[in-house]
Amino acid sequence: MTAAAGPLVFAHRGASADLPEHTLVAYERALADGADGLECDVRLTRDGHLVCVHDRRLDRTSTGRGLVSARTLAELDQYDFGSWHPGARGAVERVPVLTLDRLVRTVLDGARPVRLLIETKHPSRYGSDVERRLVALLSRYGLTRPGPRDQVRVTVMSFSPLALRRIQALAPRLPTVLLLEVVPPGIRLRRLPFGARVGGPAVDLVRARPAIVEALRSGGNGIYVWTVNEPADIDLVIGHGVDGIITDRPRAVLDRLGR
Ligand code: G3P
Ligand code: CA
Repeated sequence: MTAAAGPLVFAHRGASADLPEHTLVAYERALADGADGLECDVRLTRDGHLVCVHDRRLDRTSTGRGLVSARTLAELDQYDFGSWHPGARGAVERVPVLTLDRLVRTVLDGARPVRLLIETKHPSRYGSDVERRLVALLSRYGLTRPGPRDQVRVTVMSFSPLALRRIQALAPRLPTVLLLEVVPPGIRLRRLPFGARVGGPAVDLVRARPAIVEALRSGGNGIYVWTVNEPADIDLVIGHGVDGIITDRPRAVLDRLGR
């Protein structure tokens, strides 16, 4: 883990406080801000493409309507994924949907190390295909066996233990994070399910039940906390010595860390 060097700072959906989430401009801003890594959510289109979209529906973050999973990539390409956000107002060009393939190629083409945190969203009508397609994509780029000296290193996250089980079966060397909004019954924090070595609690959970930090750590697990935006929350998780801070405001967190 990274405790000695301080926490990794991950840009949640890119620098998404400033720019529309899950767009290339938001990720490029996060890298320019100095983020160690990028977080993204992935969903499958009707024709099997992984796209970076958080909500099941298109309505909040694009000019489209309806379910992401009911559309083909060509259909999604007709919508604007930027104009809803104040940070993109006045932009002349339409902001296209971001495919995971494009995001991966962007970080691989970049000149510096990047940690990519990919969250598979469930429930999905395509079930296990989400992880199958993800592993197939990562394999094409040689990213399923990240090594310490690799410029781009991928970690897969999910709230769904079954999703992590599929990743363990398909790509056993890919690190995984079990995301926790609450602590579900039957989950042992010392020994996370299906080989996950990092727990990903919500910052609200850390605030309400700080003992979970020690419970995770006592099992040798890393701790990545989301979504840490407010100064008091940033100080809280820095005080706990967590390994990763997932934030919409990477520059603010880096400033707080003196980086
Ligand atoms: O990084 C974890 C966090 O993103 C989980 O919640 O809803 O923002 O995907 P959500
Ligand atoms: Ca997420």
